[in-house]
Amino acid sequence: MSKDFDWPVGYNDAKERLGERFSRLHLDTKILASHAKPLPNADPVVVPIYHSSTYRFKTIAQFDEANHGSNFVYRRCGNPTTENVEVVINEIEGGAGSLLYNSGLAAINAVFWEFLGAGTHLICMSPIYRPTLQIQQWRLGADISLHSCSKYIGGHTDVIAGVVTVANYDNWKRLKLQQLTTGSSLSPYDAALLTRGLKTLALRMKQISENALEIAKFLESHLKVTRVYYPGLESHPQHKYAKEVMNKFSGMIAFDVGSAENAIKLVESLKLIVHAVSLGGTESLIEHPLSMSHGKQLLRDENGPSVAPGLEIQCWHRKRRGYHWRLEASLGSARMVIRC
Ligand SMILES: Cc1ncc(COP(=O)(O)O)c(C=O)c1O
Repeated sequence: MSKDFDWPVGYNDAKERLGERFSRLHLDTKILASHAKPLPNADPVVVPIYHSSTYRFKTIAQFDEANHGSNFVYRRCGNPTTENVEVVINEIEGGAGSLLYNSGLAAINAVFWEFLGAGTHLICMSPIYRPTLQIQQWRLGADISLHSCSKYIGGHTDVIAGVVTVANYDNWKRLKLQQLTTGSSLSPYDAALLTRGLKTLALRMKQISENALEIAKFLESHLKVTRVYYPGLESHPQHKYAKEVMNKFSGMIAFDVGSAENAIKLVESLKLIVHAVSLGGTESLIEHPLSMSHGKQLLRDENGPSVAPGLEIQCWHRKRRGYHWRLEASLGSARMVIRC
């Protein structure tokens, strides 16, 4: 890293406005109140989309100041709409700083590139979603936290983005310098969608987690379902640990229906649940990872992991009195109707 490189992390203006009271707020309220410092003489309630690719300089001397006298010089180097999301996510994570990327994989790649050297050992789950790294929060002992914001943070299946939050400001500066020299920053249009998504994140996660637990229990009791994998179920091997580190168990369930053929029939015959990859939006989705996102070659490799031909489902549809969403499927010759 260049010794002269000096770039401050975006500042959460709500902390100044609320003073000491800010630290006593519930996390959900902190997220709602948090926003980056507004530009002088303009204090809109919702941070606007700043789409300018470049910013005016008053003097040549300003260009020579540390950080060119501003976080905003050229869009690849920093953007107020994007910085606002970084401020809010950093508040959720409680880190030293966050950086947004134009996809989850770009975020993962930035971390690999910056911090892994030749001969470094990488421990990850298997099978892995292409080049994915799962790093736990530093409260649990880690230095870096990573999310694909394309999932629950965006929450509406209309944005691809990723975020890295670090516990240490020097590491944030390393990533910032790398980002502005390699060009992996997020567009302000996508950042505006994330700003909106973050406002309902807590409410959505609560509902999604409640739905998923109910559906996981239902699937576990169904005769045609041979195994359900959901950390909120007591039958999950890591349920005890999951309870220690999670308040709720999120919306993703994996389950087996005996064979890949049954699984394919199931996903292809669904009416209400959408057959598509990804998750985290306001639709209920189902996919068959063996044939789709995680790849036949990898899962069928004799030396590879022994993963059953399962299904992944993410649950959103809300249950109301007198209303049941139905998962309808042909399994062999039998017609299966799942109600929950
Ligand atoms: C498990 C997992 N990791 C990483 C990613 C990559 O995220 P992005 O699409 O934002 O690059 C995905 C995307 O579906 C995923 O499912």
